[in-house]
Amino acid sequence: MKILAIESSCDETSAAVIDQGEILSNIISSQTFHSLYGGVIPELASRAHIENISPIVSQSLQESNCSMNDIEAIAVTNEPGLIGSLLVGSNFAKGLALRYNLPIVPVNHIEGHLYSAFIQDSTIKFPIMALVVSGGHTSLFLVESFEKYSIIGSTIDDASGEAFDKIATLLGLPYPGGPEIDKLAALGNPKKYDFPRSMLNYQNYNFSFSGLKTSVRYFLEKNFKNAISDEEQKDLCASVQQAIVDVLVGKTIRAAVEYKVKTISVSGGVSANSLLRKEMGDRASDLGIKFIAPDLMFCMDNAAMIAFIAEKKLLNTNINKFKDLTFVVNSSALRAKSEKKQKN
Ligand code: KG4
Ligand code: ZN
Repeated sequence: MKILAIESSCDETSAAVIDQGEILSNIISSQTFHSLYGGVIPELASRAHIENISPIVSQSLQESNCSMNDIEAIAVTNEPGLIGSLLVGSNFAKGLALRYNLPIVPVNHIEGHLYSAFIQDSTIKFPIMALVVSGGHTSLFLVESFEKYSIIGSTIDDASGEAFDKIATLLGLPYPGGPEIDKLAALGNPKKYDFPRSMLNYQNYNFSFSGLKTSVRYFLEKNFKNAISDEEQKDLCASVQQAIVDVLVGKTIRAAVEYKVKTISVSGGVSANSLLRKEMGDRASDLGIKFIAPDLMFCMDNAAMIAFIAEKKLLNTNINKFKDLTFVVNSSALRAKSEKKQKN
């Protein structure tokens, strides 16, 4: 069964086609113009999605050597994200579904990231401790199957990607700052400056990154009033990155041990971070736990991850459930709950 998936929750317009676990195409158009404003401008994002979506879907079909007549189901991100951006993708998907009489699988964006680490690895063993880290989210999930997971902790303020981006702005780096910090940090000394590792030693699995941002701001105001030299910038990037990664790795590893998982996964935009991948991989391997992270093209927002989990849902659910096109489009995120969350 070929599924066409659409993702437009933030500033990437993406379309992908999947056929029995094989990604036939995954076209991603990033709205790079937001860097002019130092962050995503929601209204401009929606307008750019409107312009991009039709050509991106056509390109995705073309690259997978199929037409709409070969597609048997549509998947679309319906939550969470920027409401205008989500509406563009969802309404486009509904239009196609009506025209071609197809079912639509609405997919939660975070669930897409959550399972994206498994796109290239069908040998994964549950249970999995999954860290999802992106511009809008930082959460730890205990994943028991493709249908069942629970959130065991989330950020109580900023997401880790947001911390990377905001601190990068303080350091005079362009938006999005995560990849910039990653690049410069490789050339700097991570021990040069000691920034806080908030909530690292708390018993729970929640995170907090707004204190780090404030601490860097005060530190810069006090010590770098005039300018930051290139060398100092590299050391600052390395030290900030180390502080974020220490918390993410420390808490994930402790949770993995407590819940006795067989696999640790990291996914979402921040999972592209080279230090995070290395340190999580090393610590997992010391404990004999398998570590997986998505290929870089599946870390950022992409429709392949939406297609992947939609295919699992279609296999596990009566297809008639997806014939109702009145699903809700919702901007707010999944929240941590103490009880287990059963999806579908
Ligand atoms: O998943 P994503 O593309 O969009 C959201 O769902 O938010 O994540 C984007 C986030 C941005 O904050 C970006 O700075 C961060 O991922 N990011 C990185 C790296 N690449 C992207 N953060 C740290 N290191 C990277 N290499
Ligand atoms: Zn995302």
